[in-house]
Amino acid sequence: MTTPSDGPPGGEAGRIVRTRAVVLDENSTEFEIRELELDEPGVGEVLIRYVASGLCHSDLHSLDRSITPRLPMVMGHEGSGVVERVGPGVTRLSPGDHVVCSFVPSCGTCRYCATGRSALCDLGANALTGLMPNGGFRFHDDAGRDYGAWCTLGTHAQRATVPEGSVVKIDPWIPLEVAALVGCGVPTGWGSALTAGGVGVGDITVVYGAGGIGVNAIQGAVHGGAKYVIAIDPVAYKRDTALDFGATHVFATAEDAAEAITELSWGQGADQAIVTPGVAHEEIITAAVAAVGKGGTVVLTAFAGLDVTNIRLRSAEITQNQKTIKGALFGSLNPHYDIVKLLRLYDAGKLKLDELVTQRYTMDQVNEGYADMLEGRIIRGLIIHDTSSTAPE
Ligand SMILES: NC(=O)c1ccc[n+]([C@@H]2O[C@H](COP(=O)([O-])OP(=O)(O)OC[C@H]3O[C@@H](n4cnc5c(N)ncnc54)[C@H](O)[C@@H]3O)[C@@H](O)[C@H]2O)c1
Ligand SMILES: [Zn+2]
Ligand SMILES: [Zn+2]
Repeated sequence: MTTPSDGPPGGEAGRIVRTRAVVLDENSTEFEIRELELDEPGVGEVLIRYVASGLCHSDLHSLDRSITPRLPMVMGHEGSGVVERVGPGVTRLSPGDHVVCSFVPSCGTCRYCATGRSALCDLGANALTGLMPNGGFRFHDDAGRDYGAWCTLGTHAQRATVPEGSVVKIDPWIPLEVAALVGCGVPTGWGSALTAGGVGVGDITVVYGAGGIGVNAIQGAVHGGAKYVIAIDPVAYKRDTALDFGATHVFATAEDAAEAITELSWGQGADQAIVTPGVAHEEIITAAVAAVGKGGTVVLTAFAGLDVTNIRLRSAEITQNQKTIKGALFGSLNPHYDIVKLLRLYDAGKLKLDELVTQRYTMDQVNEGYADMLEGRIIRGLIIHDTSSTAPE
């Protein structure tokens, strides 16, 4: 009997790996659990045993079909685990390595990776199909249907075969459970404030939505030296958490915050507005653009439906005040550098991760976890994988 935590389980070519996985299918109205077959890693691929997988609001956009992936799809894109096998040509990773999977891959050589913008790596084009860079899918059911993996990761499965460009080796002493959060929520929020928003010492930063991404935007803004960090969230528990993470002022609505922003900035407006609610509704974006002053930056991090038009603005307001409205994917960070950096900040006591995890779930409780997210009961929930039932023989 192989103990999964012992690292490589063997390596006989062609051996079938079974894995349980959270999936979304054509007619699913909630996430379902299925047992699937997993292919061995091919060229440039690694097989990972996931330890923990974060619940991020982006998966929910697929459940209500506002962001429609190719189905069936293995869900989850924020995960950590242990490399069990590596395919031909993989030299950077070895069985036993502790890793975090980045929801944006980085190939290292495309135009965007080569110019230090690996959040925009061309391989990210496969996020909603789960098609592997080498072609094809790695999950299959007993009827022979192919399953994609969300962001080519599928971290809500016990195991997955993923492209090596998505896999970041981390220091082995970092607890793998909290490390999962650095695959999406932490860098996305942190970088949205610091890197995309460019928070500087003395700035006033407004964060709309204090959920899993928003509290990390607050952490980023505090770290950048913001004088005031103003968080807006309709849920009282989220506002309390925002204060714990360093927000200086909290409000239930954008309207309530607007007056305070004017007052606190002596009429100048905020320097940054980071938009991280569950859904990027038009009224929040409009409020964010109004909240920043001359030279201010609005960072659009939250998603809305892919075909929703949710920006209607007077261009004169943008032009005459030289405001910037920009998108940020993965906080505009570079996964292979920034994931390790963020975990080392955690190690040094400068980044809160443990406090982000407010609930742990089994895979079978996945729908309960997402319901808790929608009801505003958690900051980040983690699925803790139990691989004992499907350990490779
Ligand atoms: N750009 C990226 O790289 C990226 C990465 C991950 C997630 N996202 C997106 O970021 C968004 C947030 O994700 P999350 O996981 O933090 O979700 P979450 O559900 O944990 O947090 C959303 C928060 O927004 C709050 N909220 C709801 N309505 C609001 C309103 N009108 N004003 C202010 N706050 C409001 C909720 O109470 C909640 O606290 C989602 O749209 C998600 O898809 C983007
Ligand atoms: Zn995410
Ligand atoms: Zn690339």
